[in-house]
Amino acid sequence: MKRYSTGLPALDKKIEGGLPEKTVVLLSGNIGTGKTLMGLNFLIAGAKKGEKGAYISLNEKEEELLRACKGITSLKQIEKYLNKKIILEHIPLGKMVDLEYFTNIFASFPKVDRLVIDNVNKLLLFAESKKEYRKHLVELIDYLKKRVGVTILLCETLDATLDTNSGEAYEADGVINISFVDVEEKAKRMLGVYKMRYTSFEPRQLYELRVSKTGLKLSDTYMV
Ligand SMILES: Nc1ncnc2c1ncn2[C@@H]1O[C@H](COP(=O)(O)OP(=O)(O)O)[C@@H](O)[C@H]1O
Ligand SMILES: [Mg+2]
Repeated sequence: MKRYSTGLPALDKKIEGGLPEKTVVLLSGNIGTGKTLMGLNFLIAGAKKGEKGAYISLNEKEEELLRACKGITSLKQIEKYLNKKIILEHIPLGKMVDLEYFTNIFASFPKVDRLVIDNVNKLLLFAESKKEYRKHLVELIDYLKKRVGVTILLCETLDATLDTNSGEAYEADGVINISFVDVEEKAKRMLGVYKMRYTSFEPRQLYELRVSKTGLKLSDTYMV
C-alpha cells in the first residue's frame, strides 16, 4: 500500500511509513496548535518527491500563508514549488460556500496527490442543520477518496476534543489531534494519533510537536 509521508519523519515511523493512500485524515486542534503549518509542511514533503498538492484555504489568503512559511526555514522552500507542484487557493467566506461550490472549484484543478482543506468546519459552515452537515461531510469524504491520494482535513476544535461533535472524527479514515498540554507549568503542543485505518500504531500516545524558526519537529519519545 502506498504511504504518503506526513512531513514529520518521527510521525511517519509511528504509522507504518505515512498516511495510507485513498484516505481522508482529520487533523484537529485548538487555535495556534500548528494545523496550518503542518498542512503546508505535508504538501512540501510531497513536492520534494515530485507529488502535486493543493491547499484550499477558507482562512488565510495565499499571501498570508506564504508569509507564515517565510518565517520558518523548512517551509520557505514552498516558493520554488508554487504553481508547479503546489497550488494555494483561497476561498473567501463571503461566498456561499457549499459542497457544490467546492467540487466545481476542485474540478478545475489539475489532478493532485495531496490535498489540504483548511478547514472542514468552515467548508460546511452553510449546512442548514447538523443532519445536513453530516450528510455533506460523508459526501465530501467519499468524493475526495476517489479523486485524491490523501486529503488532510483541518478541523478547529477545543482542547481535549477530537472534532466539533458533528461526526468528523467518525467519518474520517484517520484522526490526528494536536492540543496544548501544560508540562511543568509550560504549555506544550502535544500530538497524538487516535485513528488510522489500515495501520497498526500506538493510539493516543502523545508526542511533543515543536514549532520553531527552523521547522516542525515531532519528538520521538512518548510524553505525559
Ligand atoms: N517562525 C516561527 N517560530 C516559532 N513559532 C512559530 C513561527 N511561525 C509560527 N509559529 C507558531 O505557530 C502558530 C501558528 O500555527 P498555525 O499552524 O497557524 O496554527 P493553527 O492553524 O492550528 O491555528 C503561531 O501561534 C506561532 O506560535
Ligand atoms: Mg490555521
